Amino acid sequence: MIKKYRVGNPIPTGATIIEVKTEEGMPKVFDLDGDSLVLRLDDEDVIYGLGESIRGLNKRGYVYNSKCSDEPLHTEDKSSLYGAHNFLLISGEKNLGIFVDCPARVNFDVAFSRIDELRIDFIYPHYELYLIEGDSLKVIVKEFRELIGKSYMPPKWAFGYGQSRWSYPTADDVREVVKKHREYDIPLDMLYLDIDYMKDYKDFTTDEDAFPKFESFVKEMQDEGIHLIPIIDAGIKIEEGYDVYEEGKANGYFCKKEDGSDIVCGVWPGEVHFPDFLNTKCREWFGAKYDFLISKGIDGFWNDMNEPAIFYTKERLDSVFEQIDEYKKENLDIQKFFEFKDLVFSLSNNEDDYKAFYHDYDGKRYRHDLVHNLYGYNMTRAAGEYFAGLDKEILMFSRASYIGAHRYGGIWQGDNHAWWSHLKMNICMTMSLNMVGFLYTGADIGGFAGNCSSQLMLRWLEFAMFTPLMRNHSAIDTNRQEVYQFDNMADMRNIIKLRYALMDYIYDEFKYAVENDEMYMRPIYFDYEGDEMARRVEDEALVGDSIMIAPVYEQNAVGRYVYLPEDMLMLKFKSPEDFSREPMCKGHHYVDIALNEVVIFVRKGKEEKFLGYLDK
Ligand code: GLC
Repeated sequence: MIKKYRVGNPIPTGATIIEVKTEEGMPKVFDLDGDSLVLRLDDEDVIYGLGESIRGLNKRGYVYNSKCSDEPLHTEDKSSLYGAHNFLLISGEKNLGIFVDCPARVNFDVAFSRIDELRIDFIYPHYELYLIEGDSLKVIVKEFRELIGKSYMPPKWAFGYGQSRWSYPTADDVREVVKKHREYDIPLDMLYLDIDYMKDYKDFTTDEDAFPKFESFVKEMQDEGIHLIPIIDAGIKIEEGYDVYEEGKANGYFCKKEDGSDIVCGVWPGEVHFPDFLNTKCREWFGAKYDFLISKGIDGFWNDMNEPAIFYTKERLDSVFEQIDEYKKENLDIQKFFEFKDLVFSLSNNEDDYKAFYHDYDGKRYRHDLVHNLYGYNMTRAAGEYFAGLDKEILMFSRASYIGAHRYGGIWQGDNHAWWSHLKMNICMTMSLNMVGFLYTGADIGGFAGNCSSQLMLRWLEFAMFTPLMRNHSAIDTNRQEVYQFDNMADMRNIIKLRYALMDYIYDEFKYAVENDEMYMRPIYFDYEGDEMARRVEDEALVGDSIMIAPVYEQNAVGRYVYLPEDMLMLKFKSPEDFSREPMCKGHHYVDIALNEVVIFVRKGKEEKFLGYLDK
């Protein structure tokens, strides 16, 4: 049962697709403290939710800021990542789903400041609040998902393995990577093009020197069985004669400053304007721009830097330069030196800069910070709405998101590190994202930043072979990370081949989850509600209807503790052909899992169905 409450004058977000009648007043479960909502928690309550956010599955014990952020360092002390997913699910004596539909930043203090209190604070206390009750956690998630509409369904080939890097700067580099995969017999369906395929980082252009005859190159790759997936960034380079810039300017499609002029920010190409994706006309215009690449045979994209990430604004940069001139004349003592250092750091993603521009949203003007979390969402929507009118399926995933964007595309989990803790976070985050409708998701396998060891890469693949988006991506200045770079490539290849052997299972279960508003990957407690042991487990997952996984995510671990909520059949794979079977009893086990093994637990009564997929 869903109840809706209104506070103030909410800005529409488009997150929900069902009309729910508004209740009078405020729900009794909350105490009101000024504009804040306060909820008493029992000691045993487990709080799931918040989609893409740091830390574990149970969000209890930390503060999360729902604010789409260009955050390249996902350390424990951070409060925001790229997505804003304001859904919480309390599992306690009574289960309760809470959705706070507010496009401005919202603060969730989940028993951090006070051990027994959930506190929700607003910078702009105008929002719709949905409370969802149901017989089980699964039912609540399903009701929530019905409220927000069906998740994006990608083409089937997008469940293949993808290789990415910032960057493969020329067509020959791409050819080489594809050739190596083919030579070593490593399955590959997608090759991602990062910013260097463009001419001077201009969206909807290609660099003719680095990628000559782009269209025939796309064809050449297609003949190899490869989909090229180019990146699209939010900022449009300011350059006379560049069609996207000229058209955007002529039509007034860029975000405006208070004085009505277009805001100038710095991103990859230097100075850019930001398209006003909240404006329907701009969205239609921008969406149609993807045709520049689609007409050349491209059928997939990743949208980036759409929080939006701001390296600097022109004004702030000018003022920082002026102040630096002043510092030049000074003796930089302890205080002045740190002021000076902070000054340069204050340039990027500065809170004040997000208050310095405006949107034309359905004819109304809004200051950006009040609708901040809708920006990336509407960039994905621009693309998704355009793709919906095409007669071919297009892969789309984004970095920034808000609930609602899940109807138009998936998301990847941003700039993680080659850290074991980020493999663990990938496991928890994927389950949390399933609750809020982002089913097509995955993290950069092996880690985006930092150098990945062969051990970490192998363990990461062993988990990521179950994530719908399976992409190996790494940053500039890191060691090359294609699996053929590692000495244990043969083991990695076996894991990727196992993914392909299970492709139909993964695809069918994913599709079922999309069509039925279910979770493709979810905490085991959701299917074994009432099992107090299962409730404590954060690092096992149910994948589809038939299996449970318990990934290894610790360095040098030779196995791990596994809790089985019922009797299951354990399958231990070294490759799709080489596997053992062992019936296991409900309860606690220590399971040996060698570095080159994937363990799958098949649920009771599902053995035939699951093994049938392997035999196909
Ligand atoms: C951002 C993206 C990353 C990409 C890089 C260059 O950091 O998150 O995936 O490789 O930009 O485009």
